[in-house]
Amino acid sequence: MKTVRCHEISDDITTVTLDEIDLPAPEPGEVQVKIMACAVNFPDILMIQGKYQFAPPLPFAPGGEFAGEVVAVGNGVTDFKVGDRVSGGNRYGGFAGAINIDAGALRPVPEGVPFEKAASYSTAYLTAYVALKIRGSLQPGETLLVHGATGGVGLAAVDLGKFMGANVIATGGTDEKLAVVKKRGADHIINYTQPDGSLGGFREKVKQLTDGNGADVIYDPVGGSVFDESMRCINWNGRILTIGFTSGVWPKAAVNHILIKQISVIGVRAGEIGRRDPELGRRTRDAVYQLLAEGSIDPYICASFPLEQSVNAMKMLVDRKVVGKVVVTANGYEP
Ligand SMILES: NC(=O)c1ccc[n+]([C@@H]2O[C@H](COP(=O)([O-])OP(=O)(O)OC[C@H]3O[C@@H](n4cnc5c(N)ncnc54)[C@H](OP(=O)(O)O)[C@@H]3O)[C@@H](O)[C@H]2O)c1
Repeated sequence: MKTVRCHEISDDITTVTLDEIDLPAPEPGEVQVKIMACAVNFPDILMIQGKYQFAPPLPFAPGGEFAGEVVAVGNGVTDFKVGDRVSGGNRYGGFAGAINIDAGALRPVPEGVPFEKAASYSTAYLTAYVALKIRGSLQPGETLLVHGATGGVGLAAVDLGKFMGANVIATGGTDEKLAVVKKRGADHIINYTQPDGSLGGFREKVKQLTDGNGADVIYDPVGGSVFDESMRCINWNGRILTIGFTSGVWPKAAVNHILIKQISVIGVRAGEIGRRDPELGRRTRDAVYQLLAEGSIDPYICASFPLEQSVNAMKMLVDRKVVGKVVVTANGYEP
């Protein structure tokens, strides 16, 4: 089968190669899935660059979440059979024609959900769910400010925030991408790109939109100057949810601001909470799956690339061209 693999850690993501390898039969307890679609996430790029907190053994195929069809089952597997539509997550291995994976890491794809959406919901929406529901305790009627709302975890937070009854203000880098975010349900959009290319300039607009109070909950996958300015447009008792640092800068929180406004700066590790507390992890994954199955959340896919062009899919993230999710497809699947 074909697979895209990273053989050496490099800042240059184009160093991955398209390889032909033999995939063995699934081991006991494993399922072999013919992959149709695999979402691209920021951590895929960070893993190739050696900048992620988890480092897979070399060589590895990037691609942490995928959907496809069961083509073989190992001994002892009773939950799945050949032909089932499934989705799953494995941290890596998804940029490939097929994967052998523990049956416990798979779920059936809900009726009516296409492979590309089934492949794209779990990381983005689990992150948004853990952040907004578990860590941020977002309440109906509160104002939620979502930074980097054009991206995967950002647009998921806009979608989930609206479902949870919040008033959503979304920031992003271009008017074109923000127009999609508005169409997807954001109440207000703010372009945070400054004339000199830096990110900021949203503080006064957020204040205007909240009667001078500021946002109750701020969801921040960007960090850097965006975090710094967020500290100046947050409401009394507000919560800043630290999701990631796509700006490349780890900000430092001013503790005097935390005290004066009685705010909380809260770290979010959506995958890690499940590893440390399997029961909580199972409950959160079940809740997100249920939201997908009932149509309460709807992943937005802006583009797809065949496996052979997976570098182009990753470049879209690096070049900030993505709105929502981009997917890599295999085995001739076309969304
Ligand atoms: N904490 C967790 O549990 C968790 C889980 C999943 C992901 N994450 C993290 O969340 C972050 C976002 O992941 P994602 O998959 O949503 O990525 P993504 O789809 O690429 O979205 C990131 C967004 O950040 C904005 N951004 C601002 N400055 C940027 C820069 N210099 N380079 C690239 N993007 C920039 C972009 O929006 P504009 O171009 O519109 O500014 C982009 O849409 C990553 O840091 C990732 O590691 C955290």
